[in-house]
Amino acid sequence: MTVKKVTTKELMEMKLRGEKIAMLTAYDYLMATQMDECGIDVILVGDSVANVLLGYKSTIPVTMEEMIHHCKAVSRGVKRAMVVGDMPFMSYQASVEEAVRNAGRFLKEAGAEAVKLEGGTEIYETVNNIVRSGIPVMGHLGLTPQSIHQFGGYGVRGRNDEQASKMVEDAKGLEEAGVFSIVLEKVPALLAKRITEEVKIPVIGIGAGVYCDGQVLVAHDMLGLSGDFTPKFSKKYSDIGDEIKRCFRQYIEEVKNKEFPAEEHSY
Ligand code: KIV
Repeated sequence: MTVKKVTTKELMEMKLRGEKIAMLTAYDYLMATQMDECGIDVILVGDSVANVLLGYKSTIPVTMEEMIHHCKAVSRGVKRAMVVGDMPFMSYQASVEEAVRNAGRFLKEAGAEAVKLEGGTEIYETVNNIVRSGIPVMGHLGLTPQSIHQFGGYGVRGRNDEQASKMVEDAKGLEEAGVFSIVLEKVPALLAKRITEEVKIPVIGIGAGVYCDGQVLVAHDMLGLSGDFTPKFSKKYSDIGDEIKRCFRQYIEEVKNKEFPAEEHSY
């Protein structure tokens, strides 16, 4: 049976009827298959793959080739959810032309249906050109980890009036430039509410409170797979990391004292 893919139009209709959008990150086939089967609406192949899977200290080093590799694996596992490829640092900042070409690679080579870019005013033109090439774009405001060296930390954004007004203007500008949705990361709940009400497109929050049109979490954080790192805005739905370590310890012990393999595992 062919399953109908989630589209940008459908996400917009969900906002209009007040149905919340559920989004998670995935970086591999297996995880993507499982969340798709459970009915997730959007899967983001986030550049957080840099920290979560590849062991980098920030999202800055991750390359287009690495992002395409992970996005291909995710797309192969997904039937229904919209797959969004996160454009890595320096894949869209140097020139509009390069940005359009790299965005195109996510659709042409990696099977994504949309791309995500971080930033406000400075990326309007880039966003507009990507959209005019026929590629749906998701914006990302608030804490934008690719600009970490500019901001100097991972704190909440938009706490003062100046930052808040700038974020509202950025959101409206991105909407005008053609984005179909905006992620708001680490933003006070009431500012996120204001932005959600002032734009027509769906706003998806991560650490941005309950008023957004949808929520996104890093799957490894909510599963308890990120070690001791649990951001305040995330919720641990499990402690799978501890269970994995228990299995590894038991296996090592059983190999050492010759309990594994047993008769039933032997030919
Ligand atoms: O890369 C990522 O995981 C993200 C989410 C935090 C939205 O951009």
